[in-house]
Amino acid sequence: MELRINSRLYAVAPDWREESLLQVLREHLGLVGSKLGCGQGQCGACTVLLNGEPVRSCVLPVTSVDTRLVTTVEGLAAPGGTLHPLQRVWLEQQVPQCGYCQAGQLVCAAALLQRTPRPTAQQIDEAMGGNLCRCGTQHRIRQALQAVAKEGA
Ligand code: FES
Ligand code: FES
Repeated sequence: MELRINSRLYAVAPDWREESLLQVLREHLGLVGSKLGCGQGQCGACTVLLNGEPVRSCVLPVTSVDTRLVTTVEGLAAPGGTLHPLQRVWLEQQVPQCGYCQAGQLVCAAALLQRTPRPTAQQIDEAMGGNLCRCGTQHRIRQALQAVAKEGA
């Protein structure tokens, strides 16, 4: 079995097949941007994209990924290292506080802009509401998302 993650193929060893996608990413493949929060599919810290759609990787068996493309926060920047507009604006506007939830926030925001380039405040709240932030950065996340959407308009 192989996983397509960002722009690379990774072999999945037989003894990883009982694990979640998050475990494989973090513990075996060194892709530690996605974080383990609740471990129960409820906080969003582990969010990655599967064929562009946000999923909770802590509760996703790695075997269920199949041939779908996994995008983690490590894959948001362009191959040359140029930051994704969301990452750039996140830094410019100093969105993160402790940072723990931010990988999940960023990939979720990227998916939103991909399907809805000019989201309304309500669409942002609906798309991002399941990604919790204990540090209270939701307001800055919304502002940064709106700034990126405006840039792309
Ligand atoms: S760690 Fe996966 S949803 Fe909380
Ligand atoms: S920045 Fe600390 S949990 Fe979100």
